[in-house]
Amino acid sequence: MRKLIDKLYNETALTKGEYVRLIRDHTQEDADYLFTLSAKRREEYYGKDVYIRGLIEFTNYCKNDCLYCGIRRSSKNVERYRLSNDDIMSCCEQGYGLGFRTFVLQGGEDPYFTDDRICSLVSTIKSEYPDCAVTLSIGEKEHESYQAYFDAGADRYLLRHETADDSHYARLHPAEMSPWHRKKCLYDLKSIGYQVGCGFMVGSPYQTAENLADDMLFIKALSPHMVGIGPFISQHETPFSEMQSGTLEQTLFMLGLIRLTLPNVLLPSTTALGTIHPLGREKGIQVGANVVMPNLSPVSVRKKYLLYDNKICTGDEAAECRYCLQNRMKAIGFSVVTSRGDCLPIK
Ligand code: 5AD
Ligand code: FES
Repeated sequence: MRKLIDKLYNETALTKGEYVRLIRDHTQEDADYLFTLSAKRREEYYGKDVYIRGLIEFTNYCKNDCLYCGIRRSSKNVERYRLSNDDIMSCCEQGYGLGFRTFVLQGGEDPYFTDDRICSLVSTIKSEYPDCAVTLSIGEKEHESYQAYFDAGADRYLLRHETADDSHYARLHPAEMSPWHRKKCLYDLKSIGYQVGCGFMVGSPYQTAENLADDMLFIKALSPHMVGIGPFISQHETPFSEMQSGTLEQTLFMLGLIRLTLPNVLLPSTTALGTIHPLGREKGIQVGANVVMPNLSPVSVRKKYLLYDNKICTGDEAAECRYCLQNRMKAIGFSVVTSRGDCLPIK
């Protein structure tokens, strides 16, 4: 196993069979060895810096019905909300004051937010805060919509591919959603010129080591600027309510593999990781992640954006989350920086 890990460190790629062996057969000692190298690689690019993104969950309406997601359209007990433009602008104002230079607008696939509405939001934010990056995370759209948002000033786009394997994809999503279209979206976004983020859940129902190996090959081929991963966590109102959640160990291992596969990638240590373990986000940073995404949404809506159960930070004001994370990072020898935090070129 050490040889494989060394190979990944030196060559930044493995074959599918090699990824499968590492993912399926590694011991804790192998994982610790991986983490020494992934931490080293992180340090070569990003030192002890941790980038922050202000997350604004601006709508929990969703026309999709992903089987794992707490805000799927079939969840009848979710109290639906939309933030107004004024609400969103005041999140940005507060965030700017707290040192955020990236705003992530995330929401379900909500038809109310037409292309015109998204474009006007993006251009308003960019004109008020020209030194900030705007990231959109609003799901699958057509090329022309992505182009319009980009022309309005959007810099980055997050769209997790969820799983690279078509038959696994079909077990996580209703038949009307297509893995082919999702991947096409990511390639469209890249060709338009966005900084693009893909990603997947670790330990999602029916996932195999082969599936995760395919995820690694997919991200290597797409070569995104960001990769968002976190453990799957069951949500009580979904069809997957009785399914096992992903583990801390599995997620850390995948973070280590991603850092070695895409050395300069922006890699968040996610809220889901912080949800399954009290020090999950710290551990993620220690094995190679370099981004955290504190929540900027108004506290009044936080508990309505429950993609999974027991989500942390749902009672905390933006400033509390911001300084909580700053202290957590400081406690492990890292420091939050308040630049835009763009992806560094490969060395
Ligand atoms: N557990 C963990 N992550 C989830 N997501 C959605 N539902 C869950 C869940 N139950 C993730 C998906 C989505 C992102 C916004 O949140 O990967 O792309
Ligand atoms: Fe909203 Fe899946 S339920 S994107």
